[in-house]
Amino acid sequence: MSPLPLDAETHHAGRLTGRTVVLIGGGSGIGLRVAHRAAAAGARVVLGGRTPARLAAAAQRVGDSATWRTVDITDGVSLAAFFAELDRVDHLFTSAASYQVGPMLELSDEEAASPFVSKFWGQYHAVRRAAPKLATDGSVVLMSGAAGARPPAPAPAYAACNAAIEGLGRGLALELAPVRVNVVSPGTVDGNLWAQRPAADRENAFAQYRRDTVLHRLGTEDDIAHAVMFLFTNGFTTGSTLYPDGGYTLR
Ligand SMILES: NC(=O)c1ccc[n+]([C@@H]2O[C@H](COP(=O)([O-])OP(=O)(O)OC[C@H]3O[C@@H](n4cnc5c(N)ncnc54)[C@H](OP(=O)(O)O)[C@@H]3O)[C@@H](O)[C@H]2O)c1
Repeated sequence: MSPLPLDAETHHAGRLTGRTVVLIGGGSGIGLRVAHRAAAAGARVVLGGRTPARLAAAAQRVGDSATWRTVDITDGVSLAAFFAELDRVDHLFTSAASYQVGPMLELSDEEAASPFVSKFWGQYHAVRRAAPKLATDGSVVLMSGAAGARPPAPAPAYAACNAAIEGLGRGLALELAPVRVNVVSPGTVDGNLWAQRPAADRENAFAQYRRDTVLHRLGTEDDIAHAVMFLFTNGFTTGSTLYPDGGYTLR
C-alpha cells in the first residue's frame, strides 16, 4: 500500500530545510536544544545572546549550520542592529531573559519589575524588530512559563509576567497573520537555568515539582525543544499556548 500523501500546505510549513531559525537565548538551555533540533532538521540557525564565548562554544557544538551574534534583548538599539544583519527570519524563538523572582513583600520595586523588563518587553521588542523580516509562512514562538497559570511559590510579578506573555502571543497572532505566533509555557526543567540557582532552593523546588505534577518528573530541555519544534512546523496552529509541563497545570 502506498503511503498517504501529505497535504501540500502542511508539508511545506512542516519543513525546516534551508530555513533560517533565529534563537535569542540560543547560547544555552532550551534555546540551545532547539538549535540542535532545528539544525538536525536542515535549518540554518542564528544564536543570539550577550556573551560571545558562550555563543561561540554553542555554535561550534551545533555545527556548520550555526552562526552567532551578540544581542541584548532589553536594548532596542542592540535588537535593531541584530536583525539588520539578517537577510531573512523564518522562525524566531525568544528564550532570553534574566530577572529576579520572589514574594511582593520581599522584592524591591525594581526587582519585581525585572521579569516584565527582560522577559515581557524583551520579547515584545524582539518581535517588533524582527517583524519586517519574518517570512509570511514563518512563525514566532514566545517563552512563558507554567508558573503563570499555577504559581508553585509566591512570586506574583513573575506569575503575572508569564500570563501577560500568553496574552501577547494571542494579540500578535491576530496582528502578524499569516505569520503564526504561539507561546510555549514549560513546567520546571532540570537544566542550565536551575543549575545556576542555590542547591537548597533547587532541591526543594524539584521535590515539590515531582510530587505535584501528574507525571512525577521534571522536564528536560529537550522536552521543551520538541514542543517548540511542533509550534514552528504546524501550519494551522497560531495564538496557542502549549504547556509541556508533565500535567502540572492540571492539578
Ligand atoms: N528552565 C526552566 O525550568 C524554565 C521553566 C519555565 C520557563 N522558563 C523560561 O525559559 C527562559 C530561559 O530558560 P533556559 O532554561 O533556556 O535558561 P538559560 O540556559 O539561562 O537560557 C537563557 C539564555 O538567555 C540569554 N540571555 C539572558 N538575558 C539576556 C538578554 N538580556 N539578552 C540576550 N540574551 C540573554 C543567556 O545568555 P547570556 O547571559 O550570555 O546573555 C542564556 O543563554 C526564561 O524565560 C525562563 O523564564 C524556564
